[in-house]
Amino acid sequence: MKKIVYMDAAAGWLKPKTVIGAETDFLTNRYANAGRGICERAAGVDNMVADARAAVAAFVGANPENIVWTSGATDGLNRVVNLITTQKDYRVDSTFAVSDLDHHSARLPWENLLRHGKIGREVIVDLDENFNIKIDSIPKTDVFVITAMSNVFGVAQDVGAIIRAAREKNPDVITIVDASQYVAHEKIDVKEWNCDFMVFSGHKIGADTGVGVLYIRDVERWWPDKFGGGMINRIIDESNWVLNRAPEKFEAGTLPLTQICGLPYAIESLTGWSGGHDLIAFMHDELSEIDKIKIITSRDACMLTFYVDGMHALDFGALMGARDVCLRVGNMCASWCHKMLGIDGSIRLSVGPWNNMDDAKYVVDAIRQVVK
Ligand SMILES: Cc1ncc(COP(=O)(O)O)c(C=O)c1O
Repeated sequence: MKKIVYMDAAAGWLKPKTVIGAETDFLTNRYANAGRGICERAAGVDNMVADARAAVAAFVGANPENIVWTSGATDGLNRVVNLITTQKDYRVDSTFAVSDLDHHSARLPWENLLRHGKIGREVIVDLDENFNIKIDSIPKTDVFVITAMSNVFGVAQDVGAIIRAAREKNPDVITIVDASQYVAHEKIDVKEWNCDFMVFSGHKIGADTGVGVLYIRDVERWWPDKFGGGMINRIIDESNWVLNRAPEKFEAGTLPLTQICGLPYAIESLTGWSGGHDLIAFMHDELSEIDKIKIITSRDACMLTFYVDGMHALDFGALMGARDVCLRVGNMCASWCHKMLGIDGSIRLSVGPWNNMDDAKYVVDAIRQVVK
């Protein structure tokens, strides 16, 4: 197989052998549906799902009943909008706060409500000169979407302090944390953050695509947003149902079992990984010396993002691709921060445990050839 240098961890993490092994074993030897059978094989799958949930709960500092499976961060972020806006006490004149750090998946579902007159007003939170959320100017709002780490800037936000500041302005603010990039680099502690919701995708840390995590703090407060098999305990009549307890009441339909099976192995594989900061810092130093390259990220960020004067990001990506380097180019589904920077796209290098210094040197050489 052709060797490539894969530096696109922030878009899709390469899969550890343990994940592939666990999923192959599950599909080959252990497969059955979950929550539907009572034979030994089916019970084994129920246990597998429960163990995976417990592993995720421990990973983010939650209790297992607060962990809901989704198909990914985008699914989780859209589901939260439905959860909030279908409650009896939801007011269509509510305000929501977002920032220019947001990914389209975090902000568009709320702007879609605005577009259709289903929410009152959008507030854009200020960023400081280092593109961090300005804690001392957090506005009063009903809903607050917080990007824990931007997929362009790669810097961890002080989520706990941001939420505390938002609650000082409005004790009832509903806080939603998008931890899609944060999850690979920093320890998530939902209890310390005291957020209402938190999401991430399994594929950003080495699990397969198709599984995501939605943390819901007050599981009793929210009526489910999805209906179907597995979430109802008993139907009394057409409008009187007994729901299953959380988290099952939020999990209508068959779960992505194979992906759930792999997720604890992905979590385990992060243990001991240094974060690749030496590689990012090395490439930052080298690329800083090239005039045409304008670096956006700080030297200690979790990714290296830049643009090239006089060259479109997509052309750059094609030329790097021809040199067998896989990286991310374009607006990265983060249009607002590019707009703020006055550019229409950028180039991102992001590393995972499979990358080494030889990769970093190869990439720097390839970039020198492409921009000269
Ligand atoms: C910060 C951020 N939020 C949300 C998402 C959406 O993740 P997914 O496409 O896995 O749903 C991404 C993916 O790149 C991201 O980087």
